[in-house]
Amino acid sequence: MDFKIAVLPGDGIGREIIEQGLEVLQKIGEKYSHKFELVEGDIGGIAIDKYDNPLPQETIDMCKSSDAVLLGAVGGPKWDNVAGNKRPEAGLLKIRKELELYTNIRPATVYNTLKDASPLKESIIGDGLDICVIRELTGGIYFGEKEKGEDYSSDKMIYHEDEVRRIAIQAFEIARQRNKKVTNVDKANVLETSRLWRKVVLEVAKDYPDVQLEHLYVDNAAMQLVINPRQFDVIVTGNLFGDILSDEASMITGSIGMLPSASIGGKIGLYEPIHGSAPDIANQDKANPIATILSIAMMLKYSFKLNEEANDIEKAVEKFLEDGYRTLDIARGSGKVVGTKEAGRIICENIIK
Ligand code: IPM
Ligand code: MG
Repeated sequence: MDFKIAVLPGDGIGREIIEQGLEVLQKIGEKYSHKFELVEGDIGGIAIDKYDNPLPQETIDMCKSSDAVLLGAVGGPKWDNVAGNKRPEAGLLKIRKELELYTNIRPATVYNTLKDASPLKESIIGDGLDICVIRELTGGIYFGEKEKGEDYSSDKMIYHEDEVRRIAIQAFEIARQRNKKVTNVDKANVLETSRLWRKVVLEVAKDYPDVQLEHLYVDNAAMQLVINPRQFDVIVTGNLFGDILSDEASMITGSIGMLPSASIGGKIGLYEPIHGSAPDIANQDKANPIATILSIAMMLKYSFKLNEEANDIEKAVEKFLEDGYRTLDIARGSGKVVGTKEAGRIICENIIK
């Protein structure tokens, strides 16, 4: 089959990790006779430098005329003093909004071979820990009205019932395919938006009697993730809480460099590693390309319904780890440490086998 993919490498390590991801995609194309047509666009700091705009219209149009979007990372110290609405991150938020990607899926899976890379004790992680954070991505405090006064600033947190309903439905549907448990995370003891959120989640839950539902306040959830992560299956939460908790959940797996994400809801899905642009290690062949490679597996699964192909990629990554290979972020003093390119090459080789 033929697919058109908009590729937005962005800043920092973005291009290096995307390159390795595309090598893997190419191998899948060869193995299964799919044609992946790639078009490249600018987003983030690089787009600010070229067009004085973190998300040029050209990039938006390119994404909208593709079947899926693959993104690297945005941001860096070079653009830290740029005005808020022109920062590299503003480009990322805008593309999420433009494509109506209200559901952000961030699976945190602990590979048994990587347990020693986790900061948590083995007795806490257990076997096969697998948590899926579902983060609302186009609403909440990220997108509310902002104000900058003389001596004050404000960010408005607003949620409408329909925004909560559609993300809650996604969470319950995903839980149905997994271990049938949803943990709703909010701050309903303090925030009005959270009280509305919880009310709507409870309404949606009525249609899913087979799925167990629990509620946790976000502060407690942050604590529970490190003392008893095994209680979680699907976590559903708002934009800001989801941003924070998904970073926390990712570290349980050993490194944020391992975690892929899918942003869906609109016609075209966007796939990106959850980590940032890591400017401190950019262009040094040190970055872990696994999060990007697994994001491509999510693209194949969610946007193209190519499950077998996606499985191949996941298996190739598992084999890489089982064979003892490690990128720097997950090495913890053991294993065969390889750079970004070598990691990509070995994972490609595992696909052909
Ligand atoms: C993420 C990132 C972004 C976010 C930043 C880069 C704007 O942290 O995707 O988690 O906050 O959503
Ligand atoms: Mg984040």
